[in-house]
Parts: sequence; structure tokens; C-alpha cells
Amino acid sequence: MNLPSTHPLVDGRTTNAPLIRAFRGERPEITPVWFMRQAGRSLPEYLKLREGIGMLDACLRPELASEITLQPVRRHGVDAGIFFSDIVIPLRLAGVDVDIVPGVGPVLGEAVRTPAQVDRLVSSPLTDEAMAPIREAVALTVAELGSTPLIGFAGAPFTLAAYLVEGRPSRDHLAARTMMHADPASWARLTEWAADVTGAFLRGQVLAGASATQLFDSWAGSLSRADYIKHVAPSSERALSHVKDLPVSVVHFGTGTEHLLTAMHDVGADVMGVDYRTPLDKANRLLGGTVPLQGNIDPALLAAPWPVLEAHVRDVVVRGRSAPAHVVNLGHGVPPETDPAVLTKIVELVHSLSA
Ligand code: CP3
Repeated sequence: MNLPSTHPLVDGRTTNAPLIRAFRGERPEITPVWFMRQAGRSLPEYLKLREGIGMLDACLRPELASEITLQPVRRHGVDAGIFFSDIVIPLRLAGVDVDIVPGVGPVLGEAVRTPAQVDRLVSSPLTDEAMAPIREAVALTVAELGSTPLIGFAGAPFTLAAYLVEGRPSRDHLAARTMMHADPASWARLTEWAADVTGAFLRGQVLAGASATQLFDSWAGSLSRADYIKHVAPSSERALSHVKDLPVSVVHFGTGTEHLLTAMHDVGADVMGVDYRTPLDKANRLLGGTVPLQGNIDPALLAAPWPVLEAHVRDVVVRGRSAPAHVVNLGHGVPPETDPAVLTKIVELVHSLSA
């Protein structure tokens, strides 16, 4: 075993938690549920803690990041914590000038477009030393979580490249998709570097105590299947190679990725995260009926009247029964304006349906 003896999967704290069992392909008594972006702006206690503190600064203050991770677990009774951080944190820790602008998203001091800019980027690695605040925040969190598993996460190289090459959030990720064709050598160097930096970020979280992982390739849906397989899959596989020797399940998630589900599974994922556009029984068929699924309540319905939302959640749970195993989640993140009481109600409903 390549995990420390104090790891929750080694000392047994989380080994048989419903989430971990479902990720292994089993059907625990309770159908596990958690929410992408469960920590964050939908919670008044989060807004209070974040007052006057920048997003990335909050991520790098261990006590704060840990407390924010724990807030939704306490409030909603979800079956997992998701580490409070961001996909651009490993870029910042490797020395990239990146910040998160409220209401906009990740913005770089300078977009990475030319071979010289790529050279400069790939000359800065993510060191073990720079990872210290991440390890500390994970350790503090895991000590509080007890038998509830912590999910560590990282951004996939393409989604990181979509920010690095564009310099800011974009609709179609045109500059990134252009670079992969116009300058495939620079594209390869950039995405290999991103794979190693994001892979080290993920590995650090697992060694510090995370019991499962999720790779977010949020924007991969903008790619054709051919481009994904040729220009993106190798670097995603490389990112996951950083945790290949560790006994943790990997969830792979993207939006608008129905045409990529099998290709995204093939890079080394154990569980596929499905967005709200693809019904779970269809996703299961596409994956050959062998892959545990996570998803896929439509975030838009969180603001619908309860009977409408309840019928939708029941439908998600029923369709999820077609798969070998199912972890209930949203089809993308919690919208900031969500009434948190609705999320608590969904947790209670999903748990009651399992019984
Ligand atoms: O609860 C959780 O899910 C854990 C924390 C988490 C955050 N970001 C915190 C965050 C996770 C897993 C992420 C991943 C992330 N970050 C992704 C992949 C997931 C997805 O949504 O597809 C992406 C694409 C990013 C990049 C990013 N960071 C965006 C687009 C934004 C939103 C910007 C805005 O203000 O609308 C962020 C900021 C961010 N990351 C917030 C949080 C809680 C909001 C910042 C705030 O509260 O001020």
C-alpha cells in the first residue's frame, strides 16, 4: 500500500463508507449523495467567512479552506466533503499569475499563446514545498470528517489550457482549440506541463488524506471526439498517472460530453460523472453497463417548485438503478442563488429512497 498508515482508507475510517463502496461498483444500503460546488456562495456561513478575503487566498489558508469544506457536510448531511480549492490553485502554486475575478472566473496576467510563452510556463514546476498549505488543509479536514470521505479534485489539462491559452473564461475555447492544430508541439508541451502540475496537486491531496478523487474536464464538451482522443486524452491520462499507484477511485466529469463518455472513461477513470443533458440509463448503455455513474440532477430545477424537483430527483434515482452503482449529484455545480434548504431536502429524499 502506497498510502501512509494514518490514511482513512488504511486505518479503515472511510473504507466502507457508502460513497467509497459505490465508487467501487457496489450498491450500499444508502444511495450516496453530494453536490458539486456544495461549498460556496449558496451558504450564508460561507459568505460570512469569505468577507474581505480573495478566493485564491482563502484556498491557501488551511484553517479557512478546511472550515469551508466542512460547512456543507455539517449542514446537509451529504456523504462526502469536496475539498475547498480551485482548479487554478496548482497553477498559482507553480508561479503562474492567475486570479479569480468575482463573477468572471479565472483571469491570467498574460495569456499563453506563443512558443516563448509556453517555454516560460513549462519552466516552473509545482514543488512539494509549495503544496504545504494544501496538505495542511486536507489533514485538518480529514481529522474532522471521521467516517465521511473527502474527495480531492483537480482540473484536467484541457480545461486548464482553456484558461491558460485564452487568458480568461471563454465560450468556445477557440484559442486553445486553435493552438492544438496550429502549433501541436507547443500544445503538447503546454498540456504535458499542465498534466504534471495538476497531477501533483491531486496526488498531494490523496497522500494527505483524501479517499477519492475527481478530475474536472468541465469544457471538454467543446471538442470533437477525434480531437479529444488525439489532442487531449494523452495529457488527461498523464495527469491520472500521478495517482495510478494509489488505491483511490477516480471520477471523471465534463459538461456536454455525451459523445466523449467512453473516451473519457478510457483515460483511466473508474466512475463517470454525467451532466444533466444525458439521462443516466442512456449514459450507462453508452458505457456498456459496466461503469459506476455519478449525477445528474439538473441545477436549473433547484429553483423549481418542490413537487417538480422531487419528481426529477426520483427519476434520476430510478435511471441510476440501471448502472452497476450510482452516486447522486448535480449535472453541474450548485448555482449561487440556490436556497440551501433545498439541498438538505434532496439529501433526505435520496437517503429515504434507498431504504
Ligand atoms: O464545493 C466544491 O465543489 C469545491 C470547490 C470548487 C471550487 N471550484 C470553488 C470555487 C471546485 C471543485 C472548483 C472547480 C472549478 N473551478 C471548476 C470545475 C468545476 C466546474 O464548475 O465545472 C472550474 C471550471 C473552475 C474555475 C472557476 N473558479 C470558475 C469558473 C469560477 C466561478 C467564478 C465566478 O465568480 O462566477 C471559480 C471561482 C470559484 N471556485 C468559486 C468557488 C466557491 C466562487 C468564488 C467566490 O465564492 O467568490
